[in-house]
Amino acid sequence: MTGAGLSDFGNEVTCVDIDEEKISKLEAGEVPIYEPGLDTIIERNVEHGRLRFTTDLPDSIRTARAIFIAVGTPPNEDGSADLSHVLGVAESIAEHMEGPTLVITKSTVPVGTGAKIRSILDKAGRTDASVASNPEFLREGSAIEDFQHPDRVVIGAEDEDSIQVLKQIYQALHALETPFVVTSIPSAELIKYASNAFLATKVSFINEVAALAEEVGADVQDVAKGMGLDNRIGPRFLQAGPGYGGSCFPKDTRALAEIARDAGAPFEIVETVIRVNEKVKSRMVEKVVDALGGSVADKKVGILGLSFKPDTDDMRESPSVPLLRGLLDGGAQIRAYDPEAVENAKEILENRSVEFVEDAYDVASHADAVVIVTEWNEFRALDLERLGSVMKDRLLVDLRNIYDPVQVRRKGFRIVSLGRREGDELRRERR
Ligand code: UGA
Repeated sequence: MTGAGLSDFGNEVTCVDIDEEKISKLEAGEVPIYEPGLDTIIERNVEHGRLRFTTDLPDSIRTARAIFIAVGTPPNEDGSADLSHVLGVAESIAEHMEGPTLVITKSTVPVGTGAKIRSILDKAGRTDASVASNPEFLREGSAIEDFQHPDRVVIGAEDEDSIQVLKQIYQALHALETPFVVTSIPSAELIKYASNAFLATKVSFINEVAALAEEVGADVQDVAKGMGLDNRIGPRFLQAGPGYGGSCFPKDTRALAEIARDAGAPFEIVETVIRVNEKVKSRMVEKVVDALGGSVADKKVGILGLSFKPDTDDMRESPSVPLLRGLLDGGAQIRAYDPEAVENAKEILENRSVEFVEDAYDVASHADAVVIVTEWNEFRALDLERLGSVMKDRLLVDLRNIYDPVQVRRKGFRIVSLGRREGDELRRERR
């Protein structure tokens, strides 16, 4: 995505990967992930000769003025980030570079990684190499919009030259007056983790408000709205849900907790946010079980949405997985549908017996309950008459609060949603 975005800004970009299959697919115009609009951008820039794909790392290193390291940093067992791929690329750069080269980390890397790369380059006597950090703030599903209209660009650098090279690369954003935060490398590295951890904190915070609201008879949607209208708080990332997932928040919060423990400055809020998210995920299983009268044994449960959020096929750490496992363990029979993530879901769920079907109405067929897990747009305007007519019982469990309970009840459904008591909406309607 970064390569495609940077070429769209007018830069000449070569994307390198050791995975030959991935590269030949990209060369053939096939995009190996589901990201809306990415295929168009790739096609346009390949056509203009600004974007190419290769597996030839040495040659790409020799000809590049700036190299972004965007390889994976998978979690180690203790939650810390595995840096072997990042440092491996740095070794290759040290070996093959010719002429001044700026080495930039794009991957989310622990504080201190820039220094490690510096020492690899120093050991190889590469005095004409500089190091910089330029963290990524893209969201899956809206990566292109985020890339083209970022709230800010963060540049962590060790010298003025590097800052200028990076500003030049992002020249296209100057017209939009995008703020540039220029700082040291450790600060840039920490900005990335602290931002993701703060957003995860907002999500966990509202999820705890939701649990409390159910006990005290408040409505989390109203509470979030009332809080979010305060400019100091802001309305975004205050949507209660089944817990945050994906390839970033879970991994980055755990890595930050580990970095902080290592540094002797334990990050207690983040430790709690991680625990709360686990609790939220198991609460979702209880919610569905309770909605079905205390047991799901032999109950037919339909699941709408599997990916960790809409507009992606990504199943990594998706809250749908513990939910499905919990319901299957309780003896439920599951039918599930997702517009994009079914193949990835099959891989993760391995031999668990879930029946994957073609659409929401198939999911509902003979179901005792239908559960909305991911808020894909196509689930927002279901024909409730049609859905209800094929269900055994008209019970909707809305784990993303996308439906107005009053409307759903009018269609003869029972609805259980997050952060409000079942039935309270009737009182509200009478007011
Ligand atoms: C996140 C950040 O938002 C990006 O800025 C960052 O660049 C990216 O991680 C990364 O580090 O690469 P992403 O993981 O794509 O992006 O997804 P988000 O939209 O942030 O959602 C994360 C999770 O939080 C999802 O499971 C989502 O359903 C959940 N969420 C989000 C809520 O439950 N409620 C909300 O109000 C917002």
